[in-house]
Amino acid sequence: MKKRLISHIHQRLAELFTRFGIEDYSFIDVQVPPDKANGDFSLNAALKLAKAAKCAPQKLAAEIVALLETEKDWFSRVEVAGPGFINLYLANHVIENSFNELAEQTVIIDQVPSGGEKTVVDYSSVNIAKQMHVGHLRSTVIGDVLARSIEALGHPVVRQNHLGDWGLPMAMVIWKAEPEIAAIEERGGDLTAELTLPRLEELYKSVSAECKENPASAAVCHDYLVRLQQGDQAMLDLWHKITRISMAEVYRIYRLLDVKLAEENECGESFYRDMLADTVAEINKSGKLVESQGAQCVFLDEFKGKDGSPLPVIVQKSDGGFNYGTFDLAALRYRTATLGGQRIIYVTDARQALHFKQIFAVARATGILASPEVKLEHVPFGSILGEDNKPLKTRSGENVKLADLLSEAVERAYQVVNEKNPGLSEEQKRQVAQTVGIGAVKYADLSQNRNNDYVFSFDRMLALNGNTAPYLQYAHARICSIFRRAGLNIEEFKAVAVISQDEERDLMIRLMEFSPSVAAVANELRPHILCNYLYELAASFSAFYDKCPMLSCEDEKIKASRLMISSFTRRTLAKGLELLGISAPREM
Ligand code: ARG
Repeated sequence: MKKRLISHIHQRLAELFTRFGIEDYSFIDVQVPPDKANGDFSLNAALKLAKAAKCAPQKLAAEIVALLETEKDWFSRVEVAGPGFINLYLANHVIENSFNELAEQTVIIDQVPSGGEKTVVDYSSVNIAKQMHVGHLRSTVIGDVLARSIEALGHPVVRQNHLGDWGLPMAMVIWKAEPEIAAIEERGGDLTAELTLPRLEELYKSVSAECKENPASAAVCHDYLVRLQQGDQAMLDLWHKITRISMAEVYRIYRLLDVKLAEENECGESFYRDMLADTVAEINKSGKLVESQGAQCVFLDEFKGKDGSPLPVIVQKSDGGFNYGTFDLAALRYRTATLGGQRIIYVTDARQALHFKQIFAVARATGILASPEVKLEHVPFGSILGEDNKPLKTRSGENVKLADLLSEAVERAYQVVNEKNPGLSEEQKRQVAQTVGIGAVKYADLSQNRNNDYVFSFDRMLALNGNTAPYLQYAHARICSIFRRAGLNIEEFKAVAVISQDEERDLMIRLMEFSPSVAAVANELRPHILCNYLYELAASFSAFYDKCPMLSCEDEKIKASRLMISSFTRRTLAKGLELLGISAPREM
């Protein structure tokens, strides 16, 4: 509706703008004013164009209003407000028609034209032989929502799990895991069951401490690393086994979180191992490769140390080894040239901001991208804090394991469900607790402006009131229960929506804002926009539900209309929650 409204306004005002000598007005847009007393939409064209038109904003606004006022097909009222805003009040039939049209559609999200933009989303990107901790939660859930939202708009999306699966830490684990793997295999035991990820992590920690103390151990690890890098088959076999053990646990968590990452998305550092030398050679061709203290570096004007001295981006270390950044540069070549990525998105915590700034700048300056048009975007996020406002830790000061956190959330959700709806069967309670607990953790994260740190609180995230997953899930279940009580099939219910009350009108307008809010998530790469939208939608539904009797309504036409608006609200809530990777139970 908004799109059509804007294009109508553009058309209607073309002549006026030309008369004022304005050539470009393609950017003028309508906004939903925070206070609906200021209209359904407000137009700031007069303020934006006043300068170009050489006309006072209020005078220009008055001219615009005079023209739009005559558009009885569209507006019930048009008026100038404040310094030159124009408030637009839509005619009810415009809202009804647009809404009914939308509700007829099978896909309720507007698709981008011409197949969209090939988008690579690098997220989760866990490290092998380390358990996922709360820090990985954010990359995993934020990245997943971005991928789903961009995809929902019709862009082809390639998900990439850039595993930390190559290099010295891997060599260290291989060294210590080797005898354990051999013993289990000799016994004919089950490797993944017996050599767990926590055990691998323990091994890694002990070797890493040992290497610091003992140069001989460090030398052994180095030897393992060289053999691994040279492609020694025995090393590669062990490396493969360790990766699979590690990823088995990661997939268990992905499934719990309902995150769409599978083995086909794994494209870790190891994948690029044979492309590194080539990447450095390619950079060299640009003439920007400089040797500095034995290392191969790129110096760019924009990166200077505190004293103003140039800061190198090292692409090959003095011992010939490659670093984290080289893998990313190789990955950029692959992602643009082979995968055909036109937009590449990286979801990691804010501490990696400088790293990505440098990688993007080096990639552009040395021409290793398949096309200069490729968009490169780092999506940083803040930390999860404990109630003490310090990064979340266990009592003993360790990183909180994601697996533990999720089981606690499910347990606590069980208490909430049990209190709220003791009549459910035990199995249903368990199922709802699972959905609510996991949903609550994800939503608490997603609903924050990602740049901020946030304080983790089970009580707050599991509350049935406020901007929480359970609140939205409950709104969804409540609509389902209305239809159940009436013996109606909510999926198949069809009727024509009409406006008889303000609350119906508000809810219909709100429902039409769903697709633009998904588009905003994809553009700005901020999942909280969708969370806020869904929260406001649920609030609009609540107001509608309080004010507009449904099953007891005597006018059949209005009753059917209200049921239809409710069923479409359910559909929109479910779709929105699906984009957030949160399930919407029909009963809670
Ligand atoms: N494995 C890295 C870490 O845990 C994150 C990788 C992010 N992606 C990338 N292409 N660098 O810190």
